[in-house]
Amino acid sequence: MTQNFLTVDKDFRLAIVGDLHTHWDHIDLAQFARANYDLLYFTGDLGGGTPDSTLRIAQSIAQLNQPALVMPGNNDTGDIHQLAAELTHQNGMNRLLSITKGTENTQNPISLCGYSQHRINTPHTDIGLIAARPHSMGGVSLSFPEYMEATYGISTLEQSTQRLIDLVDNTDTENLIFLAHNGPQGLGQEPQDMWGCDFKENGGDWGDPDLTDAIFYAREKGKKILAVIGGHMHLRTKQGHERPWKTTIGDTLYINAAKVPRIFQSKEDVHRHHILMTINEQGIQIEEKLIPEYG
Ligand SMILES: [Fe+2]
Repeated sequence: MTQNFLTVDKDFRLAIVGDLHTHWDHIDLAQFARANYDLLYFTGDLGGGTPDSTLRIAQSIAQLNQPALVMPGNNDTGDIHQLAAELTHQNGMNRLLSITKGTENTQNPISLCGYSQHRINTPHTDIGLIAARPHSMGGVSLSFPEYMEATYGISTLEQSTQRLIDLVDNTDTENLIFLAHNGPQGLGQEPQDMWGCDFKENGGDWGDPDLTDAIFYAREKGKKILAVIGGHMHLRTKQGHERPWKTTIGDTLYINAAKVPRIFQSKEDVHRHHILMTINEQGIQIEEKLIPEYG
């Protein structure tokens, strides 16, 4: 089982970029290039529902000059190998160029995640990142079972739970953060709850049960779950309500980053949304960032 390491020598600064749905371009690249982030996490749904649009956005994300993890969403079910190649290609080119210039870039690459684990080493704490089930559409059954079987060898939710439990067992840090496309089950039944269903009558909890089982398992094993980060269920519901984008239950912070569209016009300017999570000796701080396009 592979594990990527990222070591930071100060506060750990994670940028969380919610579901893109094509809302991403060269201005984002320039803004993130100026920001001092250690890692970017994309919750997924890069494109507009076609494999081509997902690949086009992936080609742009690949030009980031910071490490990034990209979770495939339910809208990103094209050729996963091609998607991975698009994300790593430009990064590989950058690395080649920097070696030629004599300044080898030792940062982690930009890569897909999902059923994978990663690790952050900071001066204050070490944190295991567990990237949960990719392509989740939510609900009580496995999304795209044939695709999931062919791509990940997973054809049931039970198998998915077991894969996540294996990842938890493989961590050697007390502190964990779960990364997901859809959030976990258990955060409410109402359409405007964090992962409540807003597109069927009587709503219901649309969170991922395998993710919840893995979180409970990790707690039983004595792990501290610092945060669970997902998206997918747009913060503005179909009924016009706003879901909460964060909540704390026990010592776990839950974040739904799906501000859709993430690029939007306000009275004064065009704003671009992401969430900044900082982890230092004071604990975790999070803030919404709305970056003005021309500000
Ligand atoms: Fe989604």
